Amino acid sequence: MTRVLRLVLMGPPGAGKGTQGELLAHRFGIPRYATGDILRASRRDGSELGRKAQSFMDAGELVPDEVILGLIGEALDTPEAQDGCLFDGFPRTVAQAEGLDTLLREAGRELDAVVNLAVSDAEIVRRLSSRRVCGDCGTVAPTGEGRRECPGCGGGLVTRPDDRPETVLRRLEVYREQTEPVLSWYRDSSTRVFDIPGTGGVARVQELILEAIAA
Ligand code: AP5
Repeated sequence: MTRVLRLVLMGPPGAGKGTQGELLAHRFGIPRYATGDILRASRRDGSELGRKAQSFMDAGELVPDEVILGLIGEALDTPEAQDGCLFDGFPRTVAQAEGLDTLLREAGRELDAVVNLAVSDAEIVRRLSSRRVCGDCGTVAPTGEGRRECPGCGGGLVTRPDDRPETVLRRLEVYREQTEPVLSWYRDSSTRVFDIPGTGGVARVQELILEAIAA
């Protein structure tokens, strides 16, 4: 299905943004800009961007706004972004939300909606302590299958450095301090914000998101 759709997917660490974002991007035939994935790919490539981001990411802190807005600005300039896109894990600060608003306005575009996935802290800690990802390509391994190898490329599965319990707690603090205000910023603007429970199974969450954005 192809439709012009510009969505922001928000929620605390481990809320399921990546899981739902991939399904939505595929369903609507739009590119997904997941800033965390872009930064991790840059680290694997050993690029300048990856080197800049590494210490912030491993400490559970946010990468500076100008770095993030630079990479989103480049993405929005590409032909694939002209007919809609999905932002996953971006914006994460009010400055990033304002920056995105400016970039879209300058291009004569606007957001259709913000989808906010709600998951309790206890569930987040449970999910992230058991999450395994491919050390080569970054794919998240399906949970509960006891795999040792990536289902995509066969690479070895590892724990993400920022999924250590103490870093997860810091990421949650950073989320409360810097990212929750973004939700209030959108609620105060004319953008629609849909609050969706992020528990109850991947298929059920997807169904709830589709119902909300179809409304
Ligand atoms: P990022 O990669 O964006 O991390 P995050 O927001 O903390 O989110 P996660 O990737 O941990 O989780 P998710 O919500 O995608 O959940 P997932 O689908 O994997 O950012 C990492 C770092 O990069 C940041 O800390 C920061 O340093 C930097 N960064 C990134 N963007 C930035 C920005 N804009 N500005 C500044 N810095 C930035 O699911 C998690 C687990 O739960 C998986 O195992 C999955 O299988 C499972 N799961 C998913 N859905 C369900 C369900 N419904 N029921 C049960 N289990 C489920």
